[in-house]
Amino acid sequence: MSSSRKDDHVRLAMEQETAHRRSRDFDDVRVLHHALSAVNVETVSLEVEIGERTWPLPFYINGMTGGSEFTGKINQALAIAAADTGIAMASGSMSAYFKDPSCAPSFTVLRDENPHGFLMANLSANASPEQACEAVELIDADALQIHVNAVQEIVMPEGDREFEHWAQHIEAIARAVDVPVIVKEVGFGMTGTSVRTLSSLGVAFVDVAGNGGTDFARIESARRTDQFSHLNGWGQSAVESLIDARGASRDTGLPLLASGGVRTSLDVLKCLALGAKAVGVAGGFLAIVRDHGPDALIGEIRTWKEQLRSMMALVGARNVDALTRTDLVLSGRVREYAEARGID
Ligand code: FNR
Repeated sequence: MSSSRKDDHVRLAMEQETAHRRSRDFDDVRVLHHALSAVNVETVSLEVEIGERTWPLPFYINGMTGGSEFTGKINQALAIAAADTGIAMASGSMSAYFKDPSCAPSFTVLRDENPHGFLMANLSANASPEQACEAVELIDADALQIHVNAVQEIVMPEGDREFEHWAQHIEAIARAVDVPVIVKEVGFGMTGTSVRTLSSLGVAFVDVAGNGGTDFARIESARRTDQFSHLNGWGQSAVESLIDARGASRDTGLPLLASGGVRTSLDVLKCLALGAKAVGVAGGFLAIVRDHGPDALIGEIRTWKEQLRSMMALVGARNVDALTRTDLVLSGRVREYAEARGID
C-alpha cells in the first residue's frame, strides 16, 4: 500500500464525512423509555472486560491510518487523545511498514504518545504469522486486528482477487501471536455465518464493521474515475450485522464488537444493547482531530462518556452487560431485515 494511497484514504474519507456518514439504521432502533426504571447515575460503570484487560470506556478509536508523514501526524493526534481519555485505539494497516520500513515512525508514534494505553496493531488477512508477530512487537500492541476487505479489493483494478487462503492465514496468525486477535470488516458487515467460521479459527473477537459510515467501495472508486462503484451500498450495517450475528456469538462464545457509521453516543448505546461488547468509531473521530486537533477529540470523548453514563442510568443498566436487557423497538429496514433473516 503506497503512502500516497494512505493519504488519499484520509482525504476521501473526510470528503465523505462532511456528508455526515452516520448509519441510518440506528434510527430504526428505538430505546424504550420506562419512566420508573432509572438508576442513580453515579452507580453506573462504563468499564468493559476485553480479554484479560479492562477498558474504562466501551467505545474505541478504530483502525485507520499510518504509513506516511501526513498520516503519522494524524496518528499522533489520535494517540494524544487516547492517552488523555484512556480510550482504546487501533493502528491503521501496518502492511505499509513491510513494504517500506522507513515509515515505522508513523506507527510507533502510537505507543510513544500513549505508553500505557490499550493499543491494537492492524494487518490484512494476507499477512504471514511472522509479519503479525513483528507488527505486534513494533508498537507493543495489546491486541491485533486482522481486517478482511474483499469488497475493497474487488473495487480496485489492482486489488487482490484471491481470498480462499484468508481463513487459513487467520488461523495461523491467531496461533502465532501472543495477544488476542480481532477479525474485522472495513465497512461491509458480518453475518452469523462469518462468526461461526471465525469461531473455529481461534480468534478472540469479531468487529462487524458494518456499512452506512465510511464507504471503501466509494473511496476506492473515487480515487480512479469519480464514478460510483457498482458495489456502493454492498453489505450490512452494524445494526443488521449485530442482529444477524448475535445468535452465533452466543452459541460459539465468540464476542462481538461493533462499528460502522457510529457517530453519536446514542449509536454506541444501541450497539451495546444489541450485544456488542464495545463499539468502534473511525471516520467520525478522524474528522474531529483533522479539523480541530486532539483537544477537540478529548472533549468529544468526554462528552460521549457522560452522555452514555446518563443514558445507561435512564434504562436502568448499571453496567454494559446489563444493557443487553434493554427493551428495543425495531422498525423500517432493520425490522424487515430481521424478519427476512428469520430472527426474532
Ligand atoms: C479505515 N478503516 C480501516 N480499517 C482497517 O482495518 N485497516 C485500515 O487500514 C483502515 N483504514 C481506514 C482509513 C480511513 C481513513 C478510515 C476512515 C477508515 C476502516 C475502519 O476501521 C472502519 O471499519 C470503517 O471506517 C467503518 O467505521 P466508520 O468510519 O464508519 O466509523
